[in-house]
Order: sequence, then structure tokens, then C-alpha cells
Amino acid sequence: MEALTRSLFLYLSKNALLNHLAKKHGRRWAAGKMIGGTDFQSSIPCIRHLNHAGLSVTVDHLGEFVDTKEIAEERTKECIQTIRMIHREQLDSHVSLKLTSLGLDIHRDLVEANMARILEAAEEHQVMVTIDMEDVPRCQATLDLFKQFKRSHRYVSTVLQAYLYRTASDLDDLNTLKPFIRLVKGAYKESRKHAFPNKQDVDDNYKKLIVKSLQNGNYTAVASHDDQMIEFTKTFTKEHRIPTEQFEFQMLYGMRTRTQLDLVKQGYKVRVYVPYGLEWYGYFMRRLAERPANIAFVFKNFLKK
Ligand code: FDA
Repeated sequence: MEALTRSLFLYLSKNALLNHLAKKHGRRWAAGKMIGGTDFQSSIPCIRHLNHAGLSVTVDHLGEFVDTKEIAEERTKECIQTIRMIHREQLDSHVSLKLTSLGLDIHRDLVEANMARILEAAEEHQVMVTIDMEDVPRCQATLDLFKQFKRSHRYVSTVLQAYLYRTASDLDDLNTLKPFIRLVKGAYKESRKHAFPNKQDVDDNYKKLIVKSLQNGNYTAVASHDDQMIEFTKTFTKEHRIPTEQFEFQMLYGMRTRTQLDLVKQGYKVRVYVPYGLEWYGYFMRRLAERPANIAFVFKNFLKK
């Protein structure tokens, strides 16, 4: 049943008509609940509010289906502008982005050139840029570009997914670069050829990756809403005297807000992933696919307006 609901929401996430309707009619509802705002400027009060509560942020300009050079160029400019505004407004925020939004599916030279411009701004303003990990066909290209940029830039990090068999060896491979890695379970629908089909195996691998990344001495972001993973990280770091400066927890905006604040009170660093933009529909459906229990939460919020 769970697999069925997941597939249904993943299918709906790609529906262009629903995406169009959501963009047109649902923006006021989504802003402030699951997304920071409809553009970066309108998300600033939300970011400030989180910062005042002791939470760090990473912002993500939502965008699906980038298939022209012109849109990729717009996305690049927007990202550079966002980095400048984070610096100017003195916000405690990183930037997260997807390489497909910069033209990964169009041409490698294009995404490379766009990313180079973004990282130039990131270095200038000392704002970390995290490359989100997308689905399997884009994984190797994403890691290759990350490695290439990491050799000459400080303010770049990326994401590894625990559901993939390859990830432990990717983590070893990246180790010489001393990366800042965000560990996640993985959000895409992948075949058993590439990914553990059973949740328990994904969870076990996630814990192994947390241990490996921390023992390698790398700054590690544990990006999960799962209490089991959070408690595991707390216990492991205490037992092995790993300082709280070497890791952080990350969660999505609007999810487990109480837990985020409790962790801050306990002295842990917590970063909230705040998406913004008009293209919120696909993001939203993928979140429902991950956790159908959120449907109740969504409808409660919907009625609140
Ligand atoms: P999981 O879905 O495994 O649920 C385990 C348990 O956690 C649940 O049974 C429940 O108890 C609790 N739980 C989970 N979600 C909850 C909620 N919303 N409210 C209350 N309890 C909840 N993926 C990817 O492929 N590429 C990427 O770049 C990123 N980036 C990213 C950044 C950040 C900051 C986060 C938090 C996540 C991502 N992801 C991602 C998504 C990630 O791969 C994964 O799909 C989701 O985080 C869901 O997995 P969890 O580990 O959170 O819990």
C-alpha cells in the first residue's frame, strides 16, 4: 500500500497541468508553510525568523523541467543574486541547487560554465553552495563536477544517498577532498539494480555512512527527520567524542519544527532547507510520496489558510 501511494505521488509530481494550476492558484497557501516565499526577496522574513530561533538555513530555488539554455541562464543569475543578497542581508544561509537547473541535461560545458560563475560569487561572499543529488542517471556527472570544483573552491559541497549501493565507495573516493557532505536516504524512485529495495537496508547503510563520514573527520550533515538516525548520531558522537562543530542536522522547512528547536536547545547545529519559488508543486508531491502521513498535516494547514 505504501509503495502504491508513493508511486502515485511521484506520478502526480510530474503532471504539468497540476503544476500549472498550483502555480496559478496555490502560491499564497504554500508560502510560509512548506516554502519560504514565491521568490528569494519574499523569503527573507522567513529566513530571519528561523535564524532568530537559532536555526541555520539553506535556500533552494525550486525549478523543474529546465530544458533551455535561456532558463538555465536565468537560474544561474538568480543563484548569484541570491548569494549576494545573503551576504548583504547578513543571513545565516547556504544555497542548495540542482545541476539540472543549470543545464546538466542540455550540455556539460553549459552546466560547468554556469556553476563556475556561481562558485565565483560563493567564494567572494563566503556562502556555501551545496549541489543536491538527483536521480541515478545524473549521479556520476554530479560527482565528477563536484570533484572538479572542490579541487579549486572551498564553498562547495554535495549530497550522498544511502539508498544507493555505490555510496560507501563514493564516500571513500571523495575523502581526499575533505568534503562537506550532506547524507540523505534518497528521494527518487530507483530500481533494485542501483538501490536497496528494503527500507531496513537503507537505514543500516545510512548509519554506516554517518560513522564513516565522521570517522574520516569530514564535516557531516545528517539530513533526516528520522528519530532513529538523529539519536544514533547523538549517541555515536558522544561516545567517540566527536565535537558538535563537526556535524549538523538538517531538516526540511515545515517538517518536525519542534524537533528542530529541541535540538538547538540541546546545543546542536540545525540547518533548515527552505525552498522558494513558484514551482513548488513537484517538490510538495515528492514530500507527500516520502511520507503519506503528511497528507493529514497538509489538509489541516490548508484549512487554516
Ligand atoms: P524517512 O522517510 O525514512 O522516515 C523515517 C521516520 O522518520 C518516519 O517513520 C517518521 O517517524 C519520521 N519522519 C520522517 N519524515 C517525517 C516528517 N515529515 N514528520 C514527522 N516525522 C517524520 N534527497 C535526495 O535524493 N537528494 C537530495 O539532495 C536531498 N536533499 C535533502 C535535504 C534535506 C535537508 C533533507 C531533510 C532531505 C533531503 N533529501 C534529499 C530527501 C531525503 O533523501 C529523504 O527522502 C527524506 O528526508 C525522507 O527521509 P527521512 O530520513 O527524513 O525519513
